[in-house]
Amino acid sequence: MQSAHARRPRPVIALDRIRKVYGQGEAEVRALDGVSLTIERGEFVAIVGASGSGKSTMMNIIGCLDAPTSGRYFMDGIETGELDEYQLAQIRNRKIGFVFQSFNLIPRTRAVDNVAMPLAYRKVHRRERHALALEALDAVGLSARAGHLPSQLSGGQQQRVAIARALVTEPVLLLADEPTGALDTHSSEEILDLFGMLHARGRTIVMITHEPDVAARAERVVRMQDGQVIADTGTATAQAAYHAAGGTR
Ligand SMILES: Nc1ncnc2c1ncn2[C@@H]1O[C@H](COP(=O)(O)OP(=O)(O)OP(=O)(O)O)[C@@H](O)[C@H]1O
Ligand SMILES: [Mg+2]
Repeated sequence: MQSAHARRPRPVIALDRIRKVYGQGEAEVRALDGVSLTIERGEFVAIVGASGSGKSTMMNIIGCLDAPTSGRYFMDGIETGELDEYQLAQIRNRKIGFVFQSFNLIPRTRAVDNVAMPLAYRKVHRRERHALALEALDAVGLSARAGHLPSQLSGGQQQRVAIARALVTEPVLLLADEPTGALDTHSSEEILDLFGMLHARGRTIVMITHEPDVAARAERVVRMQDGQVIADTGTATAQAAYHAAGGTR
């Protein structure tokens, strides 16, 4: 049995009554209207909802790219509302690996150098950067393409390079915005399989998507509507408890 003094691991994300309001008066839009959400280490969560429901706003706040109008956001236990721009940039660089719909790779730059890029902002020696980048490429099954340019890679392969770049810093969170949005069915499957494998290895993944079959690959689905969370399948533990209780709660 666990000791009563055992320290609970801190959640990767804790949003507490987050509101984000754009405009004023008649033009006021509540992009987020009181969102409270906790995501624990090792979860694979999809955030879904119709266009305009607040997904991108949520992504920007979770990614420390934007500040809420009110409410508190704890990222890996750190209250982000108390940080200045420099400290927020450090959180983004050290704790979060970003993956975008459009890959955002640097053209005319080899895959391995794209992956090594985030390490250049830290004081990591060039040779070690290269070694870590090769390791990250290996983890996404692309070590054989290390010397290729983005233009020499398929969309799915480019996204895998982008995922390797997101993971090279060993972030606590992989934050993906429509990661399969620009890919065909086959490449999308490849990327979702990769996310499944990273999740199995203990990565924490938050993925924004508007495609139900993409969301179905996550372990937990959070549904947004009009800036609010209207449904949440909960953590694996919560789901197990729900089914054990006959699904009646
Ligand atoms: N900079 C802004 N200024 C004013 N209103 C904004 C701004 N950004 C977003 N909004 C509004 O906030 C609401 C939520 O927008 P958001 O971009 O988060 O939706 P979304 O779920 O990402 O939609 P989509 O699926 O189309 O990307 C929308 O009504 C949108 O018009
Ligand atoms: Mg959006």
